[in-house]
Formats: sequence, C-alpha cells, structure tokens
Amino acid sequence: MKITKEGLVTLYLPDSRKEVFYNPDMELSRDISVAFLQALGLKNPAVCDLLSAAGARAVRYAKETDAVKVFANDASEDAVGYIKKNVSANKVDRKVTASRSGANAFLSSHKKQFDLIDIDPFGSPVYFLDELAKCARPDSYLGVTATDCGALSGIFPKTCSERYGIALERTECFKEIGVRNLIGVVASKLEKEKLFIIPLLSHATEHYIRIFLKIVSDGKNLSDYFYHCKKCNYCTFEKKGRCVHDIAKLGPIWAGGLHDKVLCFKILDKLKQPYFKKSGDARRMLLNITSESEEPFYYNIHKISERLSKNTPPVGDIVRQLRKSGLSATRTQFNDTSIKTDAMPEDIEKVIRILDKPRSQKPAE
Ligand SMILES: C[S@@+](CC[C@H](N)C(=O)[O-])C[C@H]1O[C@@H](n2cnc3c(N)ncnc32)[C@H](O)[C@@H]1O
Ligand SMILES: [Zn+2]
Repeated sequence: MKITKEGLVTLYLPDSRKEVFYNPDMELSRDISVAFLQALGLKNPAVCDLLSAAGARAVRYAKETDAVKVFANDASEDAVGYIKKNVSANKVDRKVTASRSGANAFLSSHKKQFDLIDIDPFGSPVYFLDELAKCARPDSYLGVTATDCGALSGIFPKTCSERYGIALERTECFKEIGVRNLIGVVASKLEKEKLFIIPLLSHATEHYIRIFLKIVSDGKNLSDYFYHCKKCNYCTFEKKGRCVHDIAKLGPIWAGGLHDKVLCFKILDKLKQPYFKKSGDARRMLLNITSESEEPFYYNIHKISERLSKNTPPVGDIVRQLRKSGLSATRTQFNDTSIKTDAMPEDIEKVIRILDKPRSQKPAE
C-alpha cells in the first residue's frame, strides 16, 4: 500500500492501479471538480460519486466543499475497501456513505436524491446515461468524464456511429467536436425524461473530455447537424454554408454555448486556494476559456500554413490581423496553434501569406 496527498486529503492506495484504480494525472480534473462545486455555492449539497474507485473524488468533495452527504459507489469490492479506509483516514465518516453496487442499479435506487452527480468512468459514460437521466432532477448538476476521445471526436467514425449513433468524420477541430458530441449525447438522453441542460464548463485534454452541466426542467435541446468541408476544413452549423466545395452533413452535436463564463470566473477565484496543487494548469485552462470567442469550431494555423508551404505566423499576429479587417478572432483552449473566428478559410490563408516571412537562409557551406 502507498500513501499520497491530494488537496486537503490523504489517500491510501494499492501499489498497482490494476487492483483499484487511481490516476494521479486526474488530480487536475479533481481540483476543477472541487472548485466547481465550491463555486456553485449550493447550501448543503448531496453529491454522488458514481464510479468512485479508491474514493479520491468523494473524500475530496466531503473534505473540501460544503457537501453534507457524499455517496461513493463502486462495483468492485476492493475499491469499496479503499473508499472506507480513505473515508476514516480523513475523518469524513459522517458525511460519506460507501456502497458496492452496479452503477445503473445504484442510480435506479437513488432517484432524484442528488445535487451533483459525478461520473468518471473508464472509457465511455454512455452505458450509464439512461439511468442517469431517470435519476437526475431539475436544478441539479452533472459532471461527466469520457476517455473515448477518438470515438467522440470522430477520429474513429465507425465506433462513434456504433456507440453514439452520431455521424462524424475526422476534422481539424476534433477536440471541440468531441466535447460538443458528448454534451449532445447527454442532452438527448435527458430530453427523453423531459429534462434539458445548460453547459457550464467544458474542456478537453490529451486523454479525456470533461463537461459540467446544469439540469433544468424548461429549455430546448440545442443539438443540430453541422457541415464540414474536407478540402478547406470549413465547419459550420449554418445550413447554407459559405464554402464552395462539397460539404458533408454530420452530427447531430451540441450547437449551443459550452460555458457559463461568470461561473468560470468564480471557479478561477476558488482555484487560488493553496491546496489545489494543479491550480496553475487549471487556471491557465480557465483563463483560455474565459477569453475565447463563442464562435463554434476552430482553425489550426499551423496545419493551414503547412498546406500553403508557409512559416506558421505567431497566433497573436493572425488574431490581430483578422480583427483589423473587422472579423472576430481569439485563441482557443482546444489547441495552442488554433483560432476561433468568423473568418472563412480563405481569409485566414490570405493573412498567413501576408505575414509569411522568408525562412532564414542557411549560409552556403
Ligand atoms: C476511472 S475509475 C474511477 C476513478 C475515480 N472517479 C477517481 O477520480 O479516482 C472507474 C471505476 O468504475 C468502476 N466501475 C466500472 N464499471 C462499473 C459499473 N458498471 N458499476 C459500478 N462501478 C463500475 C471501476 O471499478 C473503477 O473503480
Ligand atoms: Zn471548402
């Protein structure tokens, strides 16, 4: 057994994650999740950590937020053993209830009981979404992780179609499409129960997608089809896209907003607390989110420059140049060399050509 510290808690963990899962790289996600619940400012919330593994999230919610009840569930007997050990080591026995149950059975026996349901599975959350929709109640919140990014973002279109029933293909803005796809899938499951969603915070890293949503009883499912051109990488939700090439109709995916920026600022503020060890990365990500345009999709400047056989200009220069021409342009959280803009691909190409500086000549040998 080994011991580690995260946030304000001490965690007892097995030597191998094969025994009971614990991923230190997900500390960032747990920091943001704790700061998210703090920023909501709910009074005495009840939280469900549906797939709790060693209980890292559940114990942190209990210790670091105002949660009065935290349910930590896992199907694995060994996991529940570690949850119990971590609950008593951190003296949160009165708040946390550990249970060993299949996730769907757990949800179906705890309907409408939670203010926040956190789902953090291996791979796809899709297998739990029908029961989740039945369990959820209006004015509560959801945190959903997915690690099957290749399927969700259309890098593996066949898996995406089989698993989610959504038509996608590989695009250059695949990370955002993965996020929009996951939100859309959750929205359509909830709609069957006459519930709707408001996305509050959505992000994608190398290996996972994470979305935070508010559930409401009144609203609209904003999922829609979008159009993609393989030739110039133009992506749009507009039915009469402005691209002159052949475009594929894909989706449906979430076409609405991805964040509540006021809440994002509150999360940023909570992340200043010194026990958030990943606050540097988390704050950088949230600052990118709060300053990015709400324009859907993005363009990868590096890839476009490569296709034009030009040097990649600094992203800031492209943004400034496009704005000078009256177009909107910002960086994006999804990729360091990409921009969100209402410009057409040919406008961006034009700017890249203008900004292209000759490569420094190698001195003759
Ligand atoms: C990725 S881990 C959870 C990690 C944890 N949330 C954290 O932040 O450390 C997924 C967990 O789900 C559990 N699990 C997998 N399928 C399940 C099911 N159908 N019902 C309940 N638990 C399940 C596994 O035992 C594993 O512990
Ligand atoms: Zn095109």
